[in-house]
Amino acid sequence: MPVLTTLVALSTAIGLASAIPTPWNGWGWPGHGGGGNGGGSSGINVQLGPRPFYLVDNMDAGPLKDKLESCSNGPFKTSPFSISHRGAPLMFPEHSKQGYKAAARMGAGTIECDVSFTSDRELVCRHSNCDLHYTTNILAIPELAAKCTKPFTPADPANGTAADAQCCTSDITLAEFKSLCALMEGDSSAFTAVNVTEYNGRLGPTPTWRTDMYATCAEPMGHKEYIQLVASMGLNFTAEAKTPVIPMPFQGTYTQADFAQQIIDEYREAGIPANRVWLQSFLQDDIFYWIDADPAFAAQAIYLDERADLSATGYEDAVASLPALAARGVKIMGPSTWQLVTADNATQTIVPSSYAKAAKEAGLELITWSLERSGPLKDGGGYYYEGVNNLINNDGDEYTLIDVLAREVGVTKMFSDWAGTVTYYANCFGL
Ligand SMILES: *[C@@H]1O[C@H](CO)[C@@H](O)[C@H](O)[C@H]1NC(C)=O
Ligand SMILES: *[C@@H]1O[C@H](CO)[C@@H](O)[C@H](O)[C@H]1NC(C)=O
Ligand SMILES: *[C@@H]1O[C@H](CO)[C@@H](O)[C@H](O)[C@H]1NC(C)=O
Ligand SMILES: *[C@@H]1O[C@H](CO)[C@@H](O)[C@H](O)[C@H]1NC(C)=O
Repeated sequence: MPVLTTLVALSTAIGLASAIPTPWNGWGWPGHGGGGNGGGSSGINVQLGPRPFYLVDNMDAGPLKDKLESCSNGPFKTSPFSISHRGAPLMFPEHSKQGYKAAARMGAGTIECDVSFTSDRELVCRHSNCDLHYTTNILAIPELAAKCTKPFTPADPANGTAADAQCCTSDITLAEFKSLCALMEGDSSAFTAVNVTEYNGRLGPTPTWRTDMYATCAEPMGHKEYIQLVASMGLNFTAEAKTPVIPMPFQGTYTQADFAQQIIDEYREAGIPANRVWLQSFLQDDIFYWIDADPAFAAQAIYLDERADLSATGYEDAVASLPALAARGVKIMGPSTWQLVTADNATQTIVPSSYAKAAKEAGLELITWSLERSGPLKDGGGYYYEGVNNLINNDGDEYTLIDVLAREVGVTKMFSDWAGTVTYYANCFGL
């Protein structure tokens, strides 16, 4: 272990690092000091690995491919445009310390913690209140498995019953949560074939296009220690107040507003200024709560918009609602990638959607999610490419989508499961 990493761990452990507002430039490597490139520089020795180069090679011939090829010698550096989505879950267990560090190494300017809470009301980084049974080894630890909301029941091939369990962060304490191993997210579509021994205490296998190479026992993270880690690397924060799966108020008294407030409180206690934190929620009420309770932190809160996925008229309703949301004080909308683009079949190109145009007219900033969650793109790319699936048939097409989102739609940041892909693009275009 490099000496400086040990020091960070040590200072965190003994509490010296309870407020680290300034970056520790270099983060274990010789650094050059922050701020040198107009705000994005962290001093981290950024390494993008082979994937962006593979994607560029795979692109169809044209000016975008030429431009991206012209950037292949770098320099590569941390970019504010590049947001790490759940760490680096294309290859590392999501929301693990190892995944966050991998994303930082790949130039993410902002690292995401999706926030849930434990039985002792501590905040932890998990994508859902109740995903421990398919993102950790909890089912392999009998005393913790016994605390799950819904204990494990095995699959029954005789009558086709799927294996089942539901294990929530709120079932256990922070200390118990920290004793788990973070694993790759189990593929829920394959729960039926489940054999807990085989999957190391987790429901569902790892999709073949991800890997278990870094999933021996990754470290799950509390929100406070995530703040310390990201601060120590000189990077920025984005925290999502997860939509509750369990009934609120929790334990009779802990309300959704208490939870939304606790997230802000932990940044203030750590001495992190509001302009380095992007709060997020899918719940309009969380966004409005922040606007009313804490304008400084609300100023760059992201209203994650999935209304288009929830009803037949959801997309049109969302587009129509944008001016009123802006008037209510919302500054940034965060729709999924597919909502921002559409197919121009006459020219066979991807173009900005009516949502993208309406958001611009309403003066709203756009941040979108998520790249690198779709696996190989030869069959059209699935959900994140909905509406343009007919124009997607190779992995290099990912950069075509990224380019339309960045330069035509005008998104200011992008979430990606593999930050290097977006960092490469951002570095090439000076974002
Ligand atoms: C972090 O946020 C600050 C304030 O918004 C910004 O100036 C800086 O460029 C950001 N840094 C990174 C690494 O994205
Ligand atoms: C399948 O069989 C198991 C064990 O006999 C039983 O508990 C379960 O209810 C059955 N499920 C269905 C859908 O019939
Ligand atoms: C589960 O997997 C283990 C290891 O591969 C195997 O020994 C065991 O028989 C399997 N159990 C079931 C119920 O399939
Ligand atoms: C473009 O063509 C595809 C495939 O035929 C179709 O599914 C899609 O709806 C068309 N898109 C538009 C905006 O017309």
